[in-house]
Amino acid sequence: MNDRDATASIDTGTGYESKPPSYIAALAEVGRGTPMGELMRRYWHPVGLASHATRTPRELRVLGEDLVLFRDGRGRPGLVQARCCHRGTTLYYGKVEERGIRCCYHGWLFDVEGRCLEQPCEPDGGRMRDRVRQPWYPVQERYGLVFAYMGPPAKKPVLPRYECLEVLEPGEFVDADDTSIGSGGDAVAPCNWLQHFENVLDTYHVPILHGNFSGTQFTEVMNQMPRVTWDYTPRGVKAFSIRTLGDGRIMRRTTEVALPTLRVVPNPYVGGYGRVESLGWTLPVDDTHYRIYTAGRVREKGVFLPKGAGAATNRKRWKDMTPEERRDFPGDWEAQTGQGAITFHSDEHLATSDHGILLLRRMLNSQVNAVRSGEDPLGVSFDPAEPPIVFEAGNFVVDA
Ligand code: FES
Ligand SMILES: [Fe+2]
Repeated sequence: MNDRDATASIDTGTGYESKPPSYIAALAEVGRGTPMGELMRRYWHPVGLASHATRTPRELRVLGEDLVLFRDGRGRPGLVQARCCHRGTTLYYGKVEERGIRCCYHGWLFDVEGRCLEQPCEPDGGRMRDRVRQPWYPVQERYGLVFAYMGPPAKKPVLPRYECLEVLEPGEFVDADDTSIGSGGDAVAPCNWLQHFENVLDTYHVPILHGNFSGTQFTEVMNQMPRVTWDYTPRGVKAFSIRTLGDGRIMRRTTEVALPTLRVVPNPYVGGYGRVESLGWTLPVDDTHYRIYTAGRVREKGVFLPKGAGAATNRKRWKDMTPEERRDFPGDWEAQTGQGAITFHSDEHLATSDHGILLLRRMLNSQVNAVRSGEDPLGVSFDPAEPPIVFEAGNFVVDA
């Protein structure tokens, strides 16, 4: 064998040659002081169902911060950092009273804005108690959810209203849910929030993952390879897809994401046609976990999808499937958590069908930079009279 033959037989593309992988920290990480963490903290985020704010303290993790949610005896919801400002135990073990939450360790009592009202071990109930403040966050209840603002106080925007949750059809009311990421899986997914958010614009995975690969997870028409175009909207990115129905008519489906984490996805089970029925907030729990809070127009309590929807090909709900069945019938949960705790962006090979993801990353980058340079990010409003936000999203049918 001469030298040339030896070179020709050397293997190429093996794992040994791959470079150390990395992720885009400026988009993925959400802690206080990080680029995306600061962008996130310029918006309101749902942190629980309104029914979660009770006299029983509830532990939460939001944007990497450990918090306790409660409702005082006067009915006011409160959100405080979990770590007591006295000697650091968690207020999760506290007791809620008429005026606030009392720490289990030395009994300091804090109101819903973190003011210290009592220090029972101190002379006169604490002469200096006005000098301490338990770190707290403002909250507001709407659409069956508790929203929190965790950013700079001087930049607190108004909590937005949404047309799809304000204008109801006869018989509809607004309900909220936090039990799953939407199509199978637990309430909290063990991967980065951006993996879910990008998936909303990953339109071509629908006929593959939810259609041909795992059988019909949605409906027959959704199994069709659509024609897709993506574009910016005033507050995010939209995907517009076209499919042909059996009777020759055309189904036009628009799906949107809106900053910072809003998923505006019309029902994929296509139970009926029209404007989007629900909104999903992709809440980063921390860098490697997210969960979804949903609010939607429903006709029956707790029923967000047409009856019978949500079954995988083997007709079992996700919670009842064995690990082997989940391997054989993967869905969104498997695909997204399968990318790893934080996907390695350096290893990706984005193609033409990923154009929506590129648009979203560009937009997120530009907004991270806007906040860095002192501007207000896209979509925040300080006007209490701001009209409800209208989305294009929906499933619509037109003649061919
Ligand atoms: S640690 Fe909370 S009152 Fe002492
Ligand atoms: Fe999906």
